[in-house]
Amino acid sequence: MKFITVKTYDELSILAADIIAEVVKTKKNAVLGLATGSSPVGAYKKLAEYNAKGELDFSSVTSVNLDEYEGLDGSNDQSYRYFMNENLFKNINIDVNKTYVPNGCASDLVEEGKNYDALIENLGGIDIQLLGIGLDGHIGFNEPDDVFTKETHPVELDPSTIEANARFFESIDDVPTRAITMGMGGIMSAKKVLLIANGAAKKDIVEKAFNGPITPKVPASILQLHPDVTVIFSEN
Ligand code: GLP
Repeated sequence: MKFITVKTYDELSILAADIIAEVVKTKKNAVLGLATGSSPVGAYKKLAEYNAKGELDFSSVTSVNLDEYEGLDGSNDQSYRYFMNENLFKNINIDVNKTYVPNGCASDLVEEGKNYDALIENLGGIDIQLLGIGLDGHIGFNEPDDVFTKETHPVELDPSTIEANARFFESIDDVPTRAITMGMGGIMSAKKVLLIANGAAKKDIVEKAFNGPITPKVPASILQLHPDVTVIFSEN
């Protein structure tokens, strides 16, 4: 594992964008595993800058996102589909028909999970998976549990996740309590993993995830078993 500590969020964002850009440049028809949350916003801005300058071409890229809230469709400004459209897809020359986010409005989320895993497999797997980390150690929406779940699956969100994500909603009561997330199988089968975490609040959980025991109680700790992980932590 490669662990990089930087001082600022801007440094983290440039480094992360450059690692993703390298995959887009070197892998024909690259498949990017993308994430939401506040952490990737800076990297997405940088990628859009590179694209605007003509340095990076997304026309043959496909993307698969990690997760989506249950019951929110792409027109809802709190959905992860909406977030991705606003923060990245509309700012780069990606074909929006080749951008995938699990459908949180599917009538059967277990079935949706199966279809999503089949899609990832048909794409030939993920070339690089970008991840943030929740304060409870979740990746995607894989919450602390007794087991690691392999498949894309519906989840009950942890009260601490609902509280942490309430800042994006008008009130905590508006935060969905359920979601669908890529499982550990999809994440761990990515050829490369890039986890970004910024700020003092994330320091302890990053320490636990990468220097503590591998346990489903700290979901990100499974990444210790992945052969190609880069972690970028910024102190501010
Ligand atoms: C959400 C997402 C995660 C993300 C996490 C951390 O819960 N489902 O994929 O990593 O938030 O978000 P932030 O980067 O805002 O701290």
